[in-house]
Amino acid sequence: MASVTKVFVPSDTTARSVGADGVAAAISAEAERRGRQIELIRNGSRGLYWLEPLVEVEVDGVRKAYGPVRPADVESLFEAGFLDGRRDHPSALGDTESIPYLAKQDRLTFARVGLIDPLSIEDYRAHGGFRGLENAVKLSGREIVDIVTESGLRGRGGAAFPTGIKWNTVLNTEAARKYVVCNADEGDSGTFADRMIMESDPYVLIEGMTIAGLAVGATQGYVYIRFEYPQAIRTMREAIERATAAGYLGDRVLGSDRAFHLEVREAAGAYICGEETSLLESLEGKRGIIRFRPPLPAVKGLFGAPTIVNNVISLATVPIILDKGAAFYKDFGTGRSRGTLTVQLAGNVKQGGLVEIAFGHSLRELLYDFGGGTATGRPIRAVQAGGPLGAYVHPSKFDTALDYEAFAQFGAMIGHGGLVVFDDTVDLGQQARFAMEFCAIESCGKCTPCRIGAVRGVEVIDRILAGENEAANLALLRELCDTMVVGSLCALGGMAPFPVMSILDHFPEDLRARKEERRAVGEVA
Ligand SMILES: Cc1cc2nc3c(=O)[nH]c(=O)nc-3n(C[C@H](O)[C@H](O)[C@H](O)COP(=O)(O)O)c2cc1C
Ligand code: SF4
Repeated sequence: MASVTKVFVPSDTTARSVGADGVAAAISAEAERRGRQIELIRNGSRGLYWLEPLVEVEVDGVRKAYGPVRPADVESLFEAGFLDGRRDHPSALGDTESIPYLAKQDRLTFARVGLIDPLSIEDYRAHGGFRGLENAVKLSGREIVDIVTESGLRGRGGAAFPTGIKWNTVLNTEAARKYVVCNADEGDSGTFADRMIMESDPYVLIEGMTIAGLAVGATQGYVYIRFEYPQAIRTMREAIERATAAGYLGDRVLGSDRAFHLEVREAAGAYICGEETSLLESLEGKRGIIRFRPPLPAVKGLFGAPTIVNNVISLATVPIILDKGAAFYKDFGTGRSRGTLTVQLAGNVKQGGLVEIAFGHSLRELLYDFGGGTATGRPIRAVQAGGPLGAYVHPSKFDTALDYEAFAQFGAMIGHGGLVVFDDTVDLGQQARFAMEFCAIESCGKCTPCRIGAVRGVEVIDRILAGENEAANLALLRELCDTMVVGSLCALGGMAPFPVMSILDHFPEDLRARKEERRAVGEVA
């Protein structure tokens, strides 16, 4: 009898959205029809999204990839001998690990993503899981915080604040109760890295949050997940249940005398609920509205108690630091940007997906070597980096290294690592309008520069595009942007002008009246 062959078909939301479930069903049916014994594993995605559904077959311990695979391809794949790893099929890609997009990455946080069965604790352990927690449980809180500080890890959710310093504040604040909150609201345009972790390697987040709890003496954690991620919510809930049953969570973490409990909370569905103080209000059951700072959440956070609020990637990176040491992690990166960045390539890009790479590589490398340029084949005109509040980067800046400080020097930010690519057909005047409109819609309403300024911003841009008092309105737009930047209470109003200003500075030709063009298409008389 032939041996059992392992076949992997991803089950993350993206792979399923392009038909992975149908492919899995077709493979099972075809194997049965042919009397071939297979073990079908629903792994997470490798993040090579343009190749999804990407099917892998394990042959002599090596995984061979085929993609994109449609249910209609399955019969011909069997005919071509894909269960034996043969390459004579149009979708054959060879050894998965040798695909350049993957081979050129530095996968640390995402080391297991796409490799394992997401909910299998045995699989997680077999791939190095829980080693960080096993080390942490033997250390004092102070020692854990020092290791995280030494690693140079900075928050991956947007502001890039040093994680160790935040944890240190929580550790040093005396309180009967402390919390760890994971910000999984992931609202930035073109981002999906947090979702990938939660759907593809949930235990790494559980492990990271537990280590955070041990570090600062918090006994309760919450994962605040955007409600648009139902699969991530289900996977995290199931993983928490299994980890608790296996003794990794609960009253005695790994048999120690330290407790840590974890729960999932569904987010309220507003972009502003990703801002940490608004998130805490929402977690407390109130409307998501910004809190004045100080006090910082690290001093007075959830229910008034000292609270760590960290992004999914920040927390999911902690286990490898506690496993391999601060020096190992710090060795990757450049300047003050240490370790790896998870870049999400989205928008008009040929090879969209996830790339985890050490800081310091150029934007050009990401866009062309990994992304392969635009999907339309036209030139890239602009890239919006760092979400809806991020600047539009001009091609003259594409040689900039991925480094928080290097980006800040020209008014841009890396944020959560989302890169949204636009070709030369983009109308950046409309994108500037969209930035202001987004802010007007998503504003929590607490402060005037944002609540009123964004509405006025849309009106001024409309007047500019219509050719009304162009020079005066452009000057007014600049002034309005300055007011919002300096006067807003939080980064929504404070950064919404960034995309607008980047367009004013680098693409001024799009922020002017284009009556002739518009007349040609009948937009103006
Ligand atoms: C309007 C707004 C939305 C935000 N959305 C998110 C989000 O979805 N996820 C996230 O981790 N951080 C988000 N942030 C940043 C958080 O306020 C906070 O800095 C972060 O969760 C801290 O975690 P980190 O230090 O690990 O990055 C947002 C900030 C603002 C101003
Ligand atoms: S800047 Fe906007 S979102 Fe932030 S507090 Fe002010 S009104 Fe609320």
